[in-house]
Amino acid sequence: MGFVIAVDGPAASGKGTLAARLAALLDFPVLDTGLLYRAVAVRLLAAGGDLDDAEAAGAAARALDLTELDHAEVRTRAAGEAASRVAVHPGVRAALFDLQQNFARQEPGAVLDGRDIGTVICPDAPAKIFVTAAPEVRADRRWRQLTSQGETVAYDDVLADIRKRDERDSGRAAAPLAQADDAVLLDTSKLTIEQAFDAARRIVETARARSGNLPG
Ligand code: DC
Repeated sequence: MGFVIAVDGPAASGKGTLAARLAALLDFPVLDTGLLYRAVAVRLLAAGGDLDDAEAAGAAARALDLTELDHAEVRTRAAGEAASRVAVHPGVRAALFDLQQNFARQEPGAVLDGRDIGTVICPDAPAKIFVTAAPEVRADRRWRQLTSQGETVAYDDVLADIRKRDERDSGRAAAPLAQADDAVLLDTSKLTIEQAFDAARRIVETARARSGNLPG
């Protein structure tokens, strides 16, 4: 196993941006695992399936083609909400498990961001960051992002979505959103992207020094 960096946290916490920037800094590949669940949901809905149908959702996850992660529709607000619903099914999570672990196995390392990377997918990851921010701050960030993508949506609706997703992602039985015991908490509520990235970089440097995996 290479040097795995697990970045977990709730919706719109900034974990995706931080994971991508850490990966660019270290020249590691990065996997936004939320896209997997989003693509499963989009595939299921396109086939006329029901998000609460565990069987159909599991089949959609097993049939997933990774090129589907590149489709613009997986990044919509509706896809995020639908992803949170298919993500509760253990069959969906099982179907996506090997793919994520294989990605993590790349040398010299990899960055994965999601909800259960540090707890379930890569419990032995030497670097774990749990990124969080106040719901209002996350809603504001997500609202700006959706608006810049051309979606028309009210801030209050985005905040309501965020709260509902937090509850569903944290409350589910299968691999719920949770901070691993050995993850470092990074609250980005009052940080700029630069400040948050600086903090994330320091967490990774400390982890690298501790694991003996020093930058070459
Ligand atoms: O990170 P995101 O907002 O793109 O994720 C969409 C949904 O996918 C999220 O609400 C829950 C689910 N998800 C998950 O259950 N496990 C992951 N590792 C990543 C995402």
